[in-house]
This record gives sequence, C-alpha cells and structure tokens, in this order.
Amino acid sequence: MDSKESEEKVRALEFYCGIGGTHFALKKLPTPICVIAAFDINTTTNAIYRHNFPSTKLCQNNIQGLTASALDKFHANLWTMSPPCQPFTLKGNLRGMDDRRCDSFKNLLTSLETMMSPPQWIFIENVSAFEGTSMHTLLIQTLNNVGYHIEEYMLSPSQFSVPNSRPRYYLLASRREKSATYISDIRRSMEECVEGATSSIMEYLEDNDEHVFLSRDKIEKAALSIVTPSSTSSACFTKSYTQYLVGCGSYLSDPNGIRPFSPREVASLMSFPHSFSWPSQVTHKQLYRALGNSVSVIVVSNLVSRLLTL
Ligand SMILES: C[S@@+](CC[C@H](N)C(=O)[O-])C[C@H]1O[C@@H](n2cnc3c(N)ncnc32)[C@H](O)[C@@H]1O
Repeated sequence: MDSKESEEKVRALEFYCGIGGTHFALKKLPTPICVIAAFDINTTTNAIYRHNFPSTKLCQNNIQGLTASALDKFHANLWTMSPPCQPFTLKGNLRGMDDRRCDSFKNLLTSLETMMSPPQWIFIENVSAFEGTSMHTLLIQTLNNVGYHIEEYMLSPSQFSVPNSRPRYYLLASRREKSATYISDIRRSMEECVEGATSSIMEYLEDNDEHVFLSRDKIEKAALSIVTPSSTSSACFTKSYTQYLVGCGSYLSDPNGIRPFSPREVASLMSFPHSFSWPSQVTHKQLYRALGNSVSVIVVSNLVSRLLTL
C-alpha cells in the first residue's frame, strides 16, 4: 500500500470492472474511496476504463487465477463485482453454476473462505434472473459461512427519477463479528427511491446532426419500442442494441424520423456523468455492447452508500 492509499478510509477492489460504471458510482459518494485495482479480461472495455481512470491500476487478468493470498495483499475493505450474467439468461443457455463463465466468481467465493482478512463490505450486481439460481444459493451460503450480514434488492433506475428501465439484482454484504443469519427478503425499494417524479427523455438527448435514422422498411417490419422526447420511460438497453431491433432497448421518434439513441444518450440514461468518454478508435457497436453490459450509476451509488453504513 502506498501512503495515499493507506490514508483512504475505503479501499476498493473492482472485479469485472468493464467500462467502470461502478467506479463512476463510487466517485459520486461523499466518502473518499480509492479503487486500488480493477480487474477485467476484455481489451475493449479495458481501453475505455483506462481512458476514464488513467491512474487506477487495471489488471487484464482472468479473475479465476487470483489466489486468496494475492487478494489479501491488497488490504481492500470493499469488493465490488458484476460477474458475467450469461449463465442466468435465456440467451446464455441458463446453465447457472455449471457454466464455465461462473468459474471465476466461484474462485472469488472460495478465496473469501480462505483469506486472512476478507473485505468488510461486498457489493454485487447481476441480472434479475440470478435470484434463486444455484449460484445465488452458493453465494449466500459462502457469505453466511464467512459471517456477512446480507441485504438483497431488486431495483431499477426508473425508481430514481430516471426514464429508463433496468431491473437488476443487487446484494450488499457487511462482515460481522458473530456468524450471520440469512433471512430471504428481496427488497424492491429503498428510502432514496422517488415515487412518481420521473424526468423526461428530452433531458437526456444530445444536439447532434449526425443521427442516423431507421429506414421505413425496418420500422414497419419490427415491433420496435418507440419513445418520444416527452416520454418518461424507455426500455433497458442491452449489449445487442442496434444489432437486433426488438427487445434490446427503445428507439426515439422525433420530427426527423425514428433513430437509435446515441451511445452518449444511452450513457446518460444509465446516469454516467458528462465526463465519461472513450478512445476515438472505439466503434459505436463496441460502445453499445459495453454500455449494455454495464450498470446504472445512480442505482449503484445509492446502494453502495447504504452498504458503507451497514
Ligand atoms: C456484466 S459485465 C460488468 C460490467 C461493469 N460493471 C461495467 O460497468 O461495465 C462483466 C464483465 O466481466 C468480464 N469478465 C468475465 N469473465 C471474466 C474473468 N474470468 N476474468 C476477468 N474478467 C471477466 C467481462 O469482460 C465483462 O466486462
């Protein structure tokens, strides 16, 4: 640990960091949080992460290879993670814990049980279908064994005034002296949620003459989710947005036609700050993919804020 890192109250390890949605959420909190290291295997998302957080140590490692002793050496007291969600989705074959893409997550859980000093706090995000899977059961069992008090949530940014739906499973875990008891109770709201005060899409649009509009043919063939600037909702943007027209996010109808939201607009609907940017060589297709895999910054910041009080 260098002297600056040791001064910070919260020292975080960001696993499966992607483009850093969680890091942006941590930066919104009043508590100074130092991300000691971030881990992801994907070269494109890592280029975007590095562009936004050049001074954070970014490890292009397979998380599966991290040992308990290596993790202990970071002296982190907060772990954040958004493990791969494909094992729990229809498109990913629903193989759950038997899917090889869960191996790195299982490795982190095994390490937690054998570490000298496991982190005080753990934050986990995943798709809503994660709840009730064998991996969910293993996660809860492991956290219980290591003595974590657990809170679980199912929340969407639409509950925080943002006109976008992204229902996700979240887990907050805080380590206690005595062994913990788990009571299954997924919360569907939190104090910070705002009922009925949703802003309109208009506030998230960018002035840009370069928008590409959909052809009449495409619009007529597909049952698109279409919203207008005055709409107060939009569908969840997935990694296949614009690759597949249906079920991957909404399209915008304005006086000039119907068009996809730009990557910047998708980022804004996911509450990324205006400072979020990317290297010039990253294509729109790559950006949609990375954003579709990322998190709602406003939901994560509210949850981590609560986690640090547990
Ligand atoms: C659901 S995304 C998380 C996105 C992230 N929260 C963000 O804000 O962009 C999962 C990420 O895990 C990474 N990943 C999957 N398996 C991995 C492994 N074994 N080791 C390291 N990274 C992995 C993927 O490259 C992907 O970026």
